[in-house]
Amino acid sequence: MMKTIMLEKEKSRTGVLQLVNVHHPLADCSTKNLMPVDVHFPKVLMMRDAANILRLAFEKISAQGSIIPVSGYRSGKEQAALYAESVQQNGAAFTERYVALPGHSEHQTGLAIDLGLAGEGIDFICPAFPYEGICDEFRKASADFGFVERYAKGKEKVTGISHEPWHFRYVGNPHAKIMVENGLALEEYIAFLEDFREDSRLVYEQAEGSVMEVYYVPADGDKTLVPVPDTKFYQVSGNNAGGFIVTVQA
Ligand code: DAL
Ligand code: ZN
Repeated sequence: MMKTIMLEKEKSRTGVLQLVNVHHPLADCSTKNLMPVDVHFPKVLMMRDAANILRLAFEKISAQGSIIPVSGYRSGKEQAALYAESVQQNGAAFTERYVALPGHSEHQTGLAIDLGLAGEGIDFICPAFPYEGICDEFRKASADFGFVERYAKGKEKVTGISHEPWHFRYVGNPHAKIMVENGLALEEYIAFLEDFREDSRLVYEQAEGSVMEVYYVPADGDKTLVPVPDTKFYQVSGNNAGGFIVTVQA
C-alpha cells in the first residue's frame, strides 16, 4: 500500500543524493549534524551518518593510522578562502581544475571527504591516495559503505573537475553500488534515475539477497505530493536538480 507525503520545494535540494557542481549550487541550509570521522582528527567533520559509516569502513580494513582524513566539511567561508589562496599559490587554471567555486563544493554539504595516505607533508588540496595498498583497499570497499570516488578519471567533462583519487562522496546504498557497477558519475546517475518512476522502479538486488527499489518524483511547484510506501522502510532525498529520489527496502 502507498500513501503520499507533501514535501516543500526546498527539500528537493537537500539529502544524501544532492548533486552539487558548477551548474548546481548548494542549497543554503544552515543546520548540519556534523561529527569527526576520526577522534585523532577532531576538526575533520562529516554529516553524522556518513562519519559513522566511514569509521566502520576504516575498521573493516584496519585503516586507522594509515589513511588520514584530510578535509571534510567546509563552510562557504572556508571554501572561499581555500579558493582564493589556491589562485594565489597555484594559479587560476590549476584552481579551476581542483577546487570547486564557493557555493558549489560538495565539501559544503558535509557528505564529502578527502583522504590521504599517512606520511610527511600531506598536500591539503591534492593528497596522495594511490591505486595500491591500503588506499586501494579502501577504494574497492568504499561502495559497500555507500561511498564513491567522485571525480573519476575519464569523467572530467561530466563532473567539471579533474581526476581526484582522494575525494570520496557519501551517497548511501544501493546508490553507491549501482553507480560503481554501471560506471556512472553522480551527474550521470541523477539523470539515469529520472527514467525510473513510481510505476517503473529501479529494482536492485543486494549481495545478501535483500531487494531495494528506487524511483524519481519530479518536484511540482512549491509543494510536491510524493508517493511512499505505507509500511515499508523508505528514505527520500532531494537531488538538487529538480526532484526527489525515493529509496525503498522492498
Ligand atoms: N576538490 C573539490 C572539487 C572541491 O573543492 O569541492
Ligand atoms: Zn575533496
